[in-house]
Amino acid sequence: MKEFIIIGHKAVTTSFSLNDLPGAAGRMDILCRCVNAALFLSHDLRRDVRVYLILKGGAQPRLVRFDGAGVRYLSPDERSAASLIKKALEKQAQGFWTESTPGVSVKMGDFGDLLGELNKKITYLREDGIDIRKIPNSGSADHLFVLGDHMGLTEDEENIIKGREHEIVSVGPLPLHADHCIVLLHNEMDRSEKHI
Ligand SMILES: C[S@@+](CC[C@H](N)C(=O)[O-])C[C@H]1O[C@@H](n2cnc3c(N)ncnc32)[C@H](O)[C@@H]1O
Repeated sequence: MKEFIIIGHKAVTTSFSLNDLPGAAGRMDILCRCVNAALFLSHDLRRDVRVYLILKGGAQPRLVRFDGAGVRYLSPDERSAASLIKKALEKQAQGFWTESTPGVSVKMGDFGDLLGELNKKITYLREDGIDIRKIPNSGSADHLFVLGDHMGLTEDEENIIKGREHEIVSVGPLPLHADHCIVLLHNEMDRSEKHI
């Protein structure tokens, strides 16, 4: 299972307009692009992928999960992913996962809660990390990746990572958008899984 956590520091936690994803919805566009980069192949979905969005732009953070094995009604455009996130936020979030639409679930919780639940070694994506091509098993099919939004990660969030088993990895020498990093990560794993 390949799992991706993306932290949206400004992303709203209540229903929002699909007409202003970057503005009023708090850079929800970034999260939507990450969902698409993580889940979509051409004319298919990656069924061995789960995406966790952490929405921190409200009074209490929300977690939204997309499960590639079960997701329905998702097409590869930002508004489609946004509409499923919006439906998830319209659902009453609890302390456990509640499905809002097939393959999409919502829960109350923050970064530390989610890492505790997944309880897996973390691969934290950062520009100054170790080159992914120098890491043995970087192409393994079982990973938990953590990426930031336009703000990166806060010091507190980095400290949460440092308190758990982790590695800090770079996909290249230049600062990239989070969704582009996800595409590059998939490419590394696809190649080592010898689909080509
Ligand atoms: C737009 S960047 C964040 C920029 C932010 N100003 C910062 O300094 O962290 C979004 C996320 O993509 C990931 N990222 C960007 N470039 C990367 C690279 N070359 N290697 C690994 N991860 C990268 C990081 O997780 C980062 O938090």
